[in-house]
Amino acid sequence: MDIVDLKNGFIERYGGDESDIAVFFAPGRVNLIGEHTDYNGGFVLPFSLHYGTYLLARPLSDPMVKFKSLNFKMGAEVCMKYDLSPMGSEWVNYPLGILKEFKDRRVDIPGMALMFAGNIPSGAGLSSSASIEMVTAFALNKMLGLGWHMPELIKLSQHAENNFVGMKCGIMDQFAVGMGEKGHAVFLDCDTLNYSLVPFDFKNYLLIITNTNKRRELAGSKYNERRAECEMALWDINRVKKIKDLSKLTWDEFEHYKDQFRSKLIRNRAEHVVGENHRVLKSVEMLKSGNLEDFGQLMFESHYSLRDLYEVSCRELDILVEEASKIEGVIGSRMTGAGFGGCTITLIDEKKLEIYMEAISRIYKEKTGLKPDFYLAESGNGIQELKTMSTI
Ligand code: GLA
Repeated sequence: MDIVDLKNGFIERYGGDESDIAVFFAPGRVNLIGEHTDYNGGFVLPFSLHYGTYLLARPLSDPMVKFKSLNFKMGAEVCMKYDLSPMGSEWVNYPLGILKEFKDRRVDIPGMALMFAGNIPSGAGLSSSASIEMVTAFALNKMLGLGWHMPELIKLSQHAENNFVGMKCGIMDQFAVGMGEKGHAVFLDCDTLNYSLVPFDFKNYLLIITNTNKRRELAGSKYNERRAECEMALWDINRVKKIKDLSKLTWDEFEHYKDQFRSKLIRNRAEHVVGENHRVLKSVEMLKSGNLEDFGQLMFESHYSLRDLYEVSCRELDILVEEASKIEGVIGSRMTGAGFGGCTITLIDEKKLEIYMEAISRIYKEKTGLKPDFYLAESGNGIQELKTMSTI
């Protein structure tokens, strides 16, 4: 996106000139591996994408905060003197929830004109929500000179999504958006929030995102249901062994205690979490040593576990992964994000990309009646204020 165009878009909507407009950017994220482990205190391995959300902001002298977007028609004006509450299921709830977090911390929020513009495909599971939340928190922190550290902004953004938007997400997305850096994956321990940046290089392979374009139904409630099932699994284990999170179970312990779970379903959920957590650890080693083939194999294993044990995949995602596995040059493929629709990521020899896109488009259309979309998962810059008139 071009910053000059964005500033012109802002001036068209709010008038004035560019002298007092500040520009901020937060990326989206894709998760390489470590799915549904974050809220179980486990490991994840996402990276920041080159797609993201831009926020242009100007201070105003009245107490109103104005919201507009280049992506959505709906806008809003909210007076900061009054309590903030959600507006239906509108996009504006994401930034509004962040403003509420600041207000709850006794920050006086002055008037502001805000304009959001994003190029993350929405509903694809690439964290457009966390990106809007984090860009808002980052901008407020800068503009109000609060000097809060990134972990605080990450936690308050997750809190806003859990409580204002009502999605009981873990911390992975906000963390990846806030801490991601170009060329690196974020290897995060979601229990302690200790993390390291793992440089990765796919060499002559590409990571391609394939969007099922399936409307996600009941994703929020199914997600919350999985969280509840994990709590039941933890409760069952805690009768015989005290652990803080499900992901603290080793494989041996899981084997030893597996008859303690109240049902096969609850045991399956726990087995996914324990296995997926191990796969993240192995993946980090493989990416560090450049062993992409074995990493690709772990991607497939992750998908089968999400499909069979955790049951968050869907027919469309399974078709994409199965068909990808048949294509020469594909070394790994899996669903990414929460599931129930959204996208797969596929590691493919760059020379076979055309063949992959042609074959997948045709077969997926035949089997589902839907047209898939493809995006390259390139690693992009982290969250920042854009001071220069540039494109990133
Ligand atoms: C969504 C949530 C994350 C995480 C993933 C699944 O993206 O926002 O916190 O739980 O699903 O790994």
